[in-house]
Amino acid sequence: MQLLKENILIVDDDVNILELLQRHLQSWNYHVFKAISVKEAVSILRDTKIDLLITDLKMPEVNGFELIKFVSEHYPKLPKLVVTGYPSVQGSLAAIKSGVVDYLTKPFTKVELKTALDKSLSASSAKLVHSKNSSEKKQAYGEIIGNSEKINEVIQVIERVKDNKATVFIKGESGTGKELVARAIHYQGKFSRAPFVAVNCGAIPENLLEAELFGYMKGAFTGAETNRGGFFQAANGGTIFLDEIGNASLTVQSRLLRVLQEKEVVRVGSAKAEKIDVRIIAATNSDLRDMIQKQIFREDLFYRLTVVEIEIAPLRERKDDIALLVDKFLFKYGVEYKDRFIQISPEALTVLERYNWPGNIRELENIIQRAVIMCDKIVDIEHLPDYLKYVLNFSSEELVPLKVIEKQYIEKVLRATCNNKTKAAKILQIDRKTLRNKLSE
Ligand SMILES: Nc1ncnc2c1ncn2[C@@H]1O[C@H](COP(=O)(O)OP(=O)(O)OP(=O)(O)O)[C@@H](O)[C@H]1O
Ligand SMILES: [Mg+2]
Repeated sequence: MQLLKENILIVDDDVNILELLQRHLQSWNYHVFKAISVKEAVSILRDTKIDLLITDLKMPEVNGFELIKFVSEHYPKLPKLVVTGYPSVQGSLAAIKSGVVDYLTKPFTKVELKTALDKSLSASSAKLVHSKNSSEKKQAYGEIIGNSEKINEVIQVIERVKDNKATVFIKGESGTGKELVARAIHYQGKFSRAPFVAVNCGAIPENLLEAELFGYMKGAFTGAETNRGGFFQAANGGTIFLDEIGNASLTVQSRLLRVLQEKEVVRVGSAKAEKIDVRIIAATNSDLRDMIQKQIFREDLFYRLTVVEIEIAPLRERKDDIALLVDKFLFKYGVEYKDRFIQISPEALTVLERYNWPGNIRELENIIQRAVIMCDKIVDIEHLPDYLKYVLNFSSEELVPLKVIEKQYIEKVLRATCNNKTKAAKILQIDRKTLRNKLSE
C-alpha cells in the first residue's frame, strides 16, 4: 500500500465541488478533509495539521476571504489555493494574487487542478526558506498577534531562544501574554514534540510545592504511599514553565538553584540525585528585585533564572496592536457564537484604543467576547461596558482635588448666608472653629 501524501483541506458550500475535488485528490493519494463552511474549516484547522488549503470564495455567512485572512494570521506557513467560479471578483482576486495565494477558476480540468496543486505545494516549501531570511513584518507569530515594535522585539527574542535550552525569564503585568510567550518558545522550537509542563507556583500550597515539582519517595511524608515523579520528571526533554515564581518558598528556591546548577533533581525523602534535561521558563508579575531586597527571594537564583529576560509591555504601551487583537477576537467569537464574521464600528474601536487596559489582553478578549454576544452584526459603542465609556466622557479638567470642591462649596454657603459664619457652620454641620480653620487655610 502506498503511503498517503499531504493533508489537504477543501472548503466549499457546494457538495458537488467538494466531491469532485475529493475524487481527484484521492486519486493522487492525498489525504482529504472536507468542510462545507468556514466554521467547520476552522475547527478542522485547530485539530489537524493541514498542508494545503483549497477554498471557494463565495460562501454564505463567513466567506472565503475571511478564511484566508484568518489562515494567513494563524497559520502563516499554510499554502492557500482559491477555487472560484466568479470571475467578477477579479478585483479582489488580484489583491489575493499579489500576496501568497494561487487560484483556479471553475470549471477546471483535472490537469489544471494538478498543476495548481503542485505549484502551491512547491511554492510553500520555497517560501519557507525565503521568509526565514526576509525581515518582512508579520502580524502574527504562532498564536501571538501584534505588529508593534514592542511585540516584534519579543518575537525576535523568542526566535533566538526557541531552539536551545537557555533559561528564560518572562516579566509582565497580568494578562499581557506571559504564558502565551512561554508556549510559543516551546512550540515554535525544535523541542516542540517533547512535553511542555506549566506549573502555577502560586496555586499550589507551599508545603506541597516541593513534592509536586521534584517528586517524592514512598514514606517521605504522610500520604506518600508510593514513589512518584514530579513536574520536572514529567517535563524531561522539554520545557517546564514556572508561573508566579515569586511564590516559591525559600526551600523550593534553593532546590531550584540546584536544578539549574547541577541539572539534577532530588525527590523529597531521597538522597539520590536524578539527571534531568529541561528548559526552564519562569514568569512573574511581581517585582523580584524588591523581593531580593526584602530577603524573600534568593539573589543567586534570580541571576540563574534571568539568563534571557523577556519583558512584555502592557497593552497601553503598544496601542498599535489593539486593532489587530480586536480583529482576531471578533473572528474567534464571531465564528463561535454567531456563525459569521462580526465587525466593529470605528467609534467603538476608538473607545477601545483610548482605554488604558489595566487587565491587558485578557481584559480586551473578555470585552470583545461579551460584545459579540450582545451585538447583531456589528459591535458598536452600546455593546461595550459602561466603564470604558466613562473614560471617554471624562475630560481631565473636571477632575480636581477634594479641597478645591470644599472651598468652592464653603464660599457658596457663605454667600447664601450673607457671610453669617454661625448660620453657615450650622448648614455645613461643622462647628464655628472648624469653619474658621478652613477659611484661614
Ligand atoms: N499577543 C497576543 N495575541 C493574542 N492573544 C493574546 C496575546 N497576548 C495575550 N493573549 C491572550 O490573552 C490571554 C491572557 O494571556 P496569558 O494567560 O498568556 O497572560 P499572562 O501574562 O500569563 O497573565 P497572568 O499574569 O494573569 O497569568 C490569553 O487568552 C491569551 O491567549
Ligand atoms: Mg499566566
